[in-house]
Amino acid sequence: MNKNTKLLLITIDGPAGAGKTTVSKILAERLGYKYIDTGALYRGVAYEAKKSNISSDDDAGLEKLCATLCLEFIRNENGLRLFSNQIDISDEIRTPEMSMLASAVSARKAVREYLLSRQKELGKGKGAVFEGRDMGTVVFPLADVKFYLDASVKTRAKRRYKELIGKKDSPTLEEIEDDIKHRDENDKNRKLAPLKAAEDAIIIDSTELGIDAVVNHMLSHIINCSS
Ligand code: DC
Repeated sequence: MNKNTKLLLITIDGPAGAGKTTVSKILAERLGYKYIDTGALYRGVAYEAKKSNISSDDDAGLEKLCATLCLEFIRNENGLRLFSNQIDISDEIRTPEMSMLASAVSARKAVREYLLSRQKELGKGKGAVFEGRDMGTVVFPLADVKFYLDASVKTRAKRRYKELIGKKDSPTLEEIEDDIKHRDENDKNRKLAPLKAAEDAIIIDSTELGIDAVVNHMLSHIINCSS
């Protein structure tokens, strides 16, 4: 994109497996923006809670934990990695167990408050693509361009299955579909910052769309906003 165009803050919300990560990374690269995966931050909290034996409904324990956490994204030879208190936990947070635990801790006020301020800090200066569940509704209600990316449960489960195939203890397609349904239920029905499209979000259903089609569709909206 032309260097004279203004820097935007772009949000992409939606349920698990809708293609947010792939699309967000491509968009950020094409635009020369930074990419922030906010789900990784929730997974980081979940990982540390498990390590410290703090259960997902122990609000006091979670609050204490968050006060000592230092979650940072660092780019190195392995790509963009998540570090927690200087330790790379990027691989450890990508398990089905961490997906469910992240969804559980993300419903707790102490965790959301801690990550809200962390995400706002990361958004300073714009020129960023933020992916998550509440980016356009709660964290950045004034974002320049908001997308909500969705797809059918079956399609999302198949995509996750392909990503996990061959990995240690990879789950079956049925298990993934059940986890996705369960997570949708948690994320959409929690009291705090539930997963939903912002009123001014552009809604895209990727069930029948390939990555390129989604990216091009998004770029056409972004270009309109940046000129
Ligand atoms: O995007 P993900 O699958 O890595 O997210 C893991 C969980 O974190 C998700 O089930 C709900 C929670 N989450 C959230 O509540 N708000 C966000 N902005 C991002 C993720």
